[in-house]
Amino acid sequence: MSSQASNPQRRITVPQFTAMKNDDHRISMVTAYDFTFASMIDECGVEGILVGDSLSMVVQGHDSTLPVTLDEMIYHAEMVGRAVKRALVVVDMPFPIYHLGSFKAIESAGRILKQTRCQAVKLEGGVDQAEVIAALVSAGIPVMAHVGLRPQSVHQMGSYRVQRESAQLMADAKAAQEAGAFAMVLECITAEIAAVITAEVDIPTIGIGSGVDCDGQILVMHDLLGLTEGRVPKHVKAYAQLRESIQGSISQYRDEVRNGQFPGQDQSFR
Ligand code: KIV
Repeated sequence: MSSQASNPQRRITVPQFTAMKNDDHRISMVTAYDFTFASMIDECGVEGILVGDSLSMVVQGHDSTLPVTLDEMIYHAEMVGRAVKRALVVVDMPFPIYHLGSFKAIESAGRILKQTRCQAVKLEGGVDQAEVIAALVSAGIPVMAHVGLRPQSVHQMGSYRVQRESAQLMADAKAAQEAGAFAMVLECITAEIAAVITAEVDIPTIGIGSGVDCDGQILVMHDLLGLTEGRVPKHVKAYAQLRESIQGSISQYRDEVRNGQFPGQDQSFR
C-alpha cells in the first residue's frame, strides 16, 4: 500500500502527533463543529482539530456538555471530517457512553471512526477510565485522554473550578498513558502541576487553562474568535472580536434594507 493510500487525506497521523513531543514541536489545537470553520482553521496550519462536546453549549445553546448525543456528535464530526485535509481530527465521546463499559465504548467510537473520516476519540478520565482506554486502543481506536477539570462531571464537582489535587492528577495522567492514550488534554490544572505532569509523561499534554508548560494548547473556537457572549473564563484569550464585527455587519445590512440602499445598482439585474 502506498503512503497516500494508507493516509488518503494526507493528514497528520496519530504517531506523528505523539512524536511532536520529542521533536519539541509545540502543538496548537482548536475546536470546530462545521465544514466552513473547520476548513478555515485547517488552512491555518494547526496540528489538531477537536470536534468537542462543547458544541452542546456553543452550538446547541445548552448550559453544559451533557445533553449532546452520539448521533449529534457524528453529524458535526462528518462536516468537520469532510473539510480537514491536514490536521489530526479528534472527536469527543459524549456523556455517558464510555461509562457503560468497553463494549459500548468500542461500538460508539467505532461508529465515529467509520462514519466521520475523523481519526481518534477523546474521553474524560484517567485511572477510572483506564480499562476502557485500553480496550479502545486494542481495537485500533486512538484515544486522547482528558484529565483535570471534567466538564461532563460538573454536577458531581458542583462547579467548573481549577483542579489542584496533584497526586490524583498525576495518577490519572500516568494511568491514561499506561492504558495507551496517544495524548491527553489537561483542563484547568494549576500551571505548576501541569508542568510536572508534562515532564513526567511521554505523550503530549494539550493544555486549556493549564499554563504555558504543556506540550500544546487548545481553545474553543468561539472563545478564540470572540464569538462568545458575555464573560469568558480567565484562561481564554480572544484573538478577534467577531461577535461585534458580525453584529455590526448585520445591523448595517438591516439599515440599508430599511432605507432602500440595498440592493443597489451593483446587485441588480437589467
Ligand atoms: O469539548 C471541548 O471543547 C473540549 C475542550 C475544551 C478541550 O473538551
